[in-house]
Amino acid sequence: VSRPAVVRVDLGARGYDVVVGRGVVGDRLGGLLSGRRRCAVVTQERAGTPHAALVEDALVAAGIEHVVVEMGDGEEHKTLGTVEALAERLAGWGLKRSDAVVALGGGIVGDTAGFLAATYMRGVPIVQVPTTLLAMVDSAIGGKTGVNLGAGKNLVGAFHQPIGVLADPTVLATLPDREYRCGLGEVAKYALLGDLALQAVVADRTPALLARDPGVLAEVVAACAAAKAAVVAADEEERTGARAVLNYGHTLAHALETAGGYRLAHGEAVAVGLVFAGRLAAELARIPSTVADRHRALVEALGLPVAAPAGLDADEVVALMRRDKKSEGGLTFVLAGPSGVERVDDPPAGALLAALGAVGVGGGEVV
Ligand SMILES: NC(=O)c1ccc[n+]([C@@H]2O[C@H](COP(=O)([O-])OP(=O)(O)OC[C@H]3O[C@@H](n4cnc5c(N)ncnc54)[C@H](O)[C@@H]3O)[C@@H](O)[C@H]2O)c1
Repeated sequence: VSRPAVVRVDLGARGYDVVVGRGVVGDRLGGLLSGRRRCAVVTQERAGTPHAALVEDALVAAGIEHVVVEMGDGEEHKTLGTVEALAERLAGWGLKRSDAVVALGGGIVGDTAGFLAATYMRGVPIVQVPTTLLAMVDSAIGGKTGVNLGAGKNLVGAFHQPIGVLADPTVLATLPDREYRCGLGEVAKYALLGDLALQAVVADRTPALLARDPGVLAEVVAACAAAKAAVVAADEEERTGARAVLNYGHTLAHALETAGGYRLAHGEAVAVGLVFAGRLAAELARIPSTVADRHRALVEALGLPVAAPAGLDADEVVALMRRDKKSEGGLTFVLAGPSGVERVDDPPAGALLAALGAVGVGGGEVV
């Protein structure tokens, strides 16, 4: 049995470890919560049924009294209403400020339970136990918590760093295929952000990765977590722009999700967005064409789409990209270049249309 990987999120007094490996929940949860009397575990049926025992056994072994509370599945449950209902359950059970919350689930549980923990009694500690690949490499790390409003996603939230993140790749065995693929889209993002070692692991061990081999997964998750941790440490609350690199591939992805009527899941749209970002950077002579080809090859090797659904119109997609919440009216991309990945505004129309054409988005004149 290999030793777990420990990735530090270096935030001074708010710093914490992301521990990745088989059995880390049993090994580490009790220690993280030592001195606390009680703990509420927030989960969902699909994540909790197969995996709550992992958390409950660790809490029992540590002598920490606990309750398991379930929330609904899907974005429509990531709401203030859910936070209120969960808070009532915690209060009714008697959870105190000196106690703790554990989030066991994907990004929806993590974001909702995170916001609950940020606000319940003005803040209680939370441990994130991510159970989707996306949550392990992205959402469980960094302290961004929040819920949706009718007016849009993630419009109410808070920064609330966890006291620890425990990622056991064996829990991914039960994840539905499409959810796993979506996580791979984010893995591709971290690899293509310039992690050559990760690119090599993905390329050399593709079958094992696709088969969810826990050994390869531990290596991949740890590498992605390290990349996310570094960005979070450099720009904890998204003030300096450093955190923008995490949106690599996302400008087009968000537009495709909307334009395609959500035929593409988020991670699939990110995959296409990465192929596009590579091609656009090459069109702008920021990177050699071979590097753009590598973007496409990596995405393809992971079984992810390299082109948008047929029939999307370039003008429509460009209009949607202009409305991206991270843009300020113009067209904003995050692109590779000689000094790494950085923000690039308003590229020339010719390059843009060529790159869109390369991912199957046709037509378009006025940009
Ligand atoms: N806070 C952040 O920094 C951040 C970053 C990226 C995304 N997000 C958010 O994350 C959310 C998406 O998260 P997600 O992709 O993990 O989706 P999700 O949380 O909806 O999980 C996907 C599905 O898989 C189920 N599931 C989870 N773990 C399982 C397991 N091990 N076995 C079987 N089923 C399991 C869930 O119950 C759910 O049905 C979005 O709301 C997004 O806004 C947040």
